Amino acid sequence: MSKVSVIGIGYVGLVTAVCLADADNKVVCIDKDLNKIEMLRNGNSPIFEPELEELITKNIEKKNLIFKTEIDDESLLSDTIFIAVGTPMIESTGRADLSYVFNVAEELGTRLGSLKGESLKTIVLKSTVPPGTTLKVKKIIESKMNGSINIVFNPEFLREGTAIKDTFYPDRIVFGAESEEPVEKLKTIYKKMVKQENPQFVSASINSAELIKYASNAFLATKISFINEIANLCELIGANVGDVAEGVGLDKRIGKSFLNAGIGYGGSCFPKDTRALDHLAGDHGHVFQLLKAVIDVNNMQKKRFVNKIKKVLDGVEGKRIGVLGLAFKQDTDDVRESIAIDIVDSLAEAGAKVSAHDPLAEKNAKVILSKHKNSIVYCDTPYDAAKKADALIIATEWDSFKKIDLEKIKKSMNKQIIFDGRNMLDAKEAVKLGFDYHSIGGYGN
Ligand SMILES: NC(=O)c1ccc[n+]([C@@H]2O[C@H](COP(=O)([O-])OP(=O)(O)OC[C@H]3O[C@@H](n4cnc5c(N)ncnc54)[C@H](O)[C@@H]3O)[C@@H](O)[C@H]2O)c1
Repeated sequence: MSKVSVIGIGYVGLVTAVCLADADNKVVCIDKDLNKIEMLRNGNSPIFEPELEELITKNIEKKNLIFKTEIDDESLLSDTIFIAVGTPMIESTGRADLSYVFNVAEELGTRLGSLKGESLKTIVLKSTVPPGTTLKVKKIIESKMNGSINIVFNPEFLREGTAIKDTFYPDRIVFGAESEEPVEKLKTIYKKMVKQENPQFVSASINSAELIKYASNAFLATKISFINEIANLCELIGANVGDVAEGVGLDKRIGKSFLNAGIGYGGSCFPKDTRALDHLAGDHGHVFQLLKAVIDVNNMQKKRFVNKIKKVLDGVEGKRIGVLGLAFKQDTDDVRESIAIDIVDSLAEAGAKVSAHDPLAEKNAKVILSKHKNSIVYCDTPYDAAKKADALIIATEWDSFKKIDLEKIKKSMNKQIIFDGRNMLDAKEAVKLGFDYHSIGGYGN
């Protein structure tokens, strides 16, 4: 049984730790957030992720998971230590905030320096960081400990909502390292954890591995902004973006995924990683024209949507608007950089009364939207959110919204107007029932 430590028990760190524990590793989980650690010690997950809580309970019982609030001697018994702390966007600059990563490096280096006669540790950085950061982390740790380590950059590609599945069945596992030895050690750990016969490993230089992560997210964001621009064109020429995306996506060279037109990308990764990559290019004297356009298109897309709502409703002041969805995507309670939240914020700012429903994200949304607490009521069901509304907005693509009873909704609304920001309702059915139905990019035409 191997011993592994994970520092930073958020979406990435917790899922990584739990999946490693499920593969019979003894995993020490370290996070500064005492509330989070207390919840975990009691077998409760601080985040929602399908299958996660069951795996936490199972592996606590098997004594494979241990939770701590600081790096102590037991955490340092592990030969392999993962770092998965956040690298959020600095609001004022759009750059990646690396302070959490560097703080961990200092703390870890100091603690490792106090060990006597220990073996060479492998430190694995999973946080998304600009090229050059991993080697800075190595330098900080080594100078603090007055010794040497192996460092590997090992980017994470899990998607919230399917994080456990993505970790057990990854498309690829990328390593950026200075030598083969720590990579071989990590391959052994991963081979034991993943549920595939032959996992796809990619070995690269540290700089290249750091860039692989940013390039992947930037490319996915590009697909989204591209189809959203096609959707905007569809509206002008009377075409249906749903049909266009299907016809385009069936080309195997293009693929269907990330071609759903909507109100733009959000979440804790795409907005911050595209901005960080743009800065990285700028810092090296390169104007990344395409990426700048991707970011601009995304910012415009939600504004277009809000403007359309204001136009159709002849202003939103004093109007009651039902909003279905607050999370940045379905199957998560994460509202970081959620477009749905931005839309509620804009509507409340313009004087609308919002009735919002989300299957999981209400608690997190309330914190972010607290300044509008007098303008927003939170509802337990989509039907409550639609009651007496002058319009209903679909803002997050929760599967359950596909099944809502439009006839029931219609009867309870003040005006029968729907803005489907995710193109997910049965457009023909909505129109047949007499709704004034507005989609993105002529979907349903
Ligand atoms: N969330 C995702 O879907 C996702 C996917 C791929 C990559 N990533 C990247 O992975 C990294 C982590 O993202 P996340 O969403 O898991 O972040 P998160 O904010 O959910 O979790 C980070 C955790 O680190 C803890 N932490 C901060 N400083 C610490 C310290 N000094 N010691 C111990 N714990 C500390 C925080 O308390 C928090 O629990 C980021 O760089 C992100 O870009 C995230």
